[in-house]
Amino acid sequence: MKYLIVANWKMNPQTMAEAERLFISVKNGIKNIKNVEVVICPPFVYLSALLNPKSYILNPKIGAQDSFWENPPTGGGAFTGEVSPKMLRNVGCRYVIIGHSERRRYLNETDEMVNKKLKAALKNDLKPVLCIENISQVKKGLKGILKEGLKNMVIAYEPVFAIGTGKPCSPEKAEKMRKAIKSAINTDIPILYGGSVNSQNAGDYIEKAKFQGLLVGGASLNPQEFLRIVQNID
Ligand code: PGA
Repeated sequence: MKYLIVANWKMNPQTMAEAERLFISVKNGIKNIKNVEVVICPPFVYLSALLNPKSYILNPKIGAQDSFWENPPTGGGAFTGEVSPKMLRNVGCRYVIIGHSERRRYLNETDEMVNKKLKAALKNDLKPVLCIENISQVKKGLKGILKEGLKNMVIAYEPVFAIGTGKPCSPEKAEKMRKAIKSAINTDIPILYGGSVNSQNAGDYIEKAKFQGLLVGGASLNPQEFLRIVQNID
């Protein structure tokens, strides 16, 4: 199995030109990477521009940072401001981040909403990256999702104290949580670590704490730093 590194650009960068530059630097920088699948998750507005026919099939894959839960047969509906998983799949997204702690905190996203979003994403052949910080969020988020669905998912352990703070979780504590998640889901799917990952600490989460990948926020906006992380893991 390849390691998985997901870049969460959050609400950055502010212009299309910067987004293209960042994307192209990463794309060129990972040409010789063999053991890592890289997924870039830009804001919605940049998705189709970055998803030209070439990037559709190659490394890096593209993901979205959220998608809506309603999944009517037509895929559409009266939900102002929302983006459906069907639209994302249609433009070529492979992955979607669901339940990020920033959405739980600033937009009051509940476990119930997260659960509905996961189900809708899976129905549309998107691979959800479920972000959690405790086992209760794992259990509630995955309620009613059967093993076949779970097999197409990724879980990211992201302790809130470590997100964007420059204070990463210790590999020992993170490993305990990884084991707890694994025994709660009882399925072999990639479990990622996220929270203040940089090129200095990235290797510890793979080597010491045995995660199958990383979810990288801040450091993914600096192409040199992000490429160092990918190269270290490769
Ligand atoms: P960070 O963000 O790497 O900037 O801590 C991680 C995340 O929120 O996914």
